[in-house]
Amino acid sequence: MEIAQIKEELKKILKPSRYRHSIGVEEVAMDMAAIFGYDIEMAGLAGILHDCAKHLSEQELLDECNKYGLPVTDIEKRCAHILHAKVGALYARIKYGVDNEEILSAIRYHTTGRPDMTLLEKIIFTADYIEPYRKPLPRIDEIRWAAYNTLDLAVYMILENMIEYLESTAEAIDTTTIETYKYYKGLLKL
Ligand SMILES: [Fe+2]
Ligand SMILES: [Fe+2]
Repeated sequence: MEIAQIKEELKKILKPSRYRHSIGVEEVAMDMAAIFGYDIEMAGLAGILHDCAKHLSEQELLDECNKYGLPVTDIEKRCAHILHAKVGALYARIKYGVDNEEILSAIRYHTTGRPDMTLLEKIIFTADYIEPYRKPLPRIDEIRWAAYNTLDLAVYMILENMIEYLESTAEAIDTTTIETYKYYKGLLKL
């Protein structure tokens, strides 16, 4: 599907604030791709599509996983909203015709991250947090600097924030997020 067509479709199904966020992630991802030497168009496509299943309710996400045979972990069952990443990758493939595995996996891992992420995975994971329309994270200026300079450090700081936030809300933390945090902490020798 052409990018203009994808945007038209997303504008119809996503809330205006979510659509604006997706445009923000697209733009930041393209800038980061330019800086780190990744394909700009691919980064933009992953960015615009990363939340393409975010309009579904938790029940709908679980139903889609059932229907398409996507495995659901216990934590995902309890916090089904994180499944918008898995279902998003599925939709990118079947509804929007994306067959590039790098793009699909960047969508797939945008909520939890994963140890040893690809460049595009790190770009989308980070762009999701620093795009200008999103409510700023604590230490956003430092994270923004790192996002355009030392990307692994930006990934680490975002994970640290996420874990602090989830701990403060007593919401379950996906084990992948913890593993990813530990991986980047070790990588950066922090
Ligand atoms: Fe998301
Ligand atoms: Fe997002």
